Amino acid sequence: MKFGTLSDLSNLISELSPYKTVVLANTTVEKLWLDRLDGFEAERIVIPDGEEHKNIETVKGIWAKLQELGFTRKSLLIGLGGGVITDIAGFVASTYMRGTMLGLVPTTLLAQVDAAIGGKTGINFNGKNMVGTFYLPDFVLIAHETLSTLPRVELLNGMAEVVKYGILDRKVYSLLKKLGSVEDLDRELVKACVEVKLRVVEEDLREGGKRRILNLGHTTAHAIEKLSNYTIKHGFAVAVGLMVAAKLGEILYNFDPGKVEELLRKFELPTGLPFEPEKILGEMRLDKKAWYGRLTFVVPIEVGEVTIEEVEEDVVRRALEAVG
Ligand SMILES: NC(=O)c1ccc[n+]([C@@H]2O[C@H](COP(=O)([O-])OP(=O)(O)OC[C@H]3O[C@@H](n4cnc5c(N)ncnc54)[C@H](O)[C@@H]3O)[C@@H](O)[C@H]2O)c1
Repeated sequence: MKFGTLSDLSNLISELSPYKTVVLANTTVEKLWLDRLDGFEAERIVIPDGEEHKNIETVKGIWAKLQELGFTRKSLLIGLGGGVITDIAGFVASTYMRGTMLGLVPTTLLAQVDAAIGGKTGINFNGKNMVGTFYLPDFVLIAHETLSTLPRVELLNGMAEVVKYGILDRKVYSLLKKLGSVEDLDRELVKACVEVKLRVVEEDLREGGKRRILNLGHTTAHAIEKLSNYTIKHGFAVAVGLMVAAKLGEILYNFDPGKVEELLRKFELPTGLPFEPEKILGEMRLDKKAWYGRLTFVVPIEVGEVTIEEVEEDVVRRALEAVG
């Protein structure tokens, strides 16, 4: 894990001395950042921008291009972009010739604090992230300057995950308390979030236990995303999910939901439900079927302490109604 600038990339590459280097990016990031990279030799593969391209057809196209380029297991694939690119690059690197070298350079806030950290790769196949692997990269370079070109909505989208880390970890919480607005986001905060995720993932790579705390806010978020047909962005759904989790914490453990609401408001994230509580509950019930009949939530007890537990439907309903 390297916190630095894009100019560190050439060193990271030469330390691995790959046979060949290929950078994977999309058309947006190509113009903004890939064109500015120098100091090393690399081929490029550029794909269209969008979640709808995170699929097996795109992967097949990349596999074919790598073959054409004479890419081997001793070659390095670098994913430069948001979570869509880091997920695809990870998946391709883990499958092509049973595994090649992999470097990730996340360029969205969401990818820097979440998608590029922790070794999960994936593509969509009859459902979101239905096919994927666990594959740890040889390096992740977090270059803060890349966030300077990020549209505001994407910054806010990532900020919801940052607030999530703030509930899980006291240090992130106190850094967030000090920020005036999303514009003040700095390297220190991104680093603190990454450290939380790394600590959790080191204990539980394959999500057998502890890693599930990272799903704080996500039971509700998934229901909201599905109900909206994925027109509501993940981070905005997570924000509402964090509010619901905070209210569950209040009902079950006297947690103060005002702490979460204050942060979400400061970072211009939604704090109210976009659908009726019964609709959300209905969607959660469907999800519950998929998850072995359990309606499980990550519930805050206090900042820095959460539990993972099954929650009675009635209690969930009360929390949803309280969020309103
Ligand atoms: N593997 C994991 O553990 C994990 C975790 C969370 C999310 N994800 C995945 O991540 C994806 C979402 O990631 P995302 O929110 O980064 O979406 P994204 O990759 O689609 O990026 C969002 C938008 O920002 C643009 N962009 C990227 N970097 C930019 C920059 N520096 N300046 C300007 N524009 C830039 C992209 O082209 C895109 O249009 C989803 O597919 C999700 O499943 C994976």
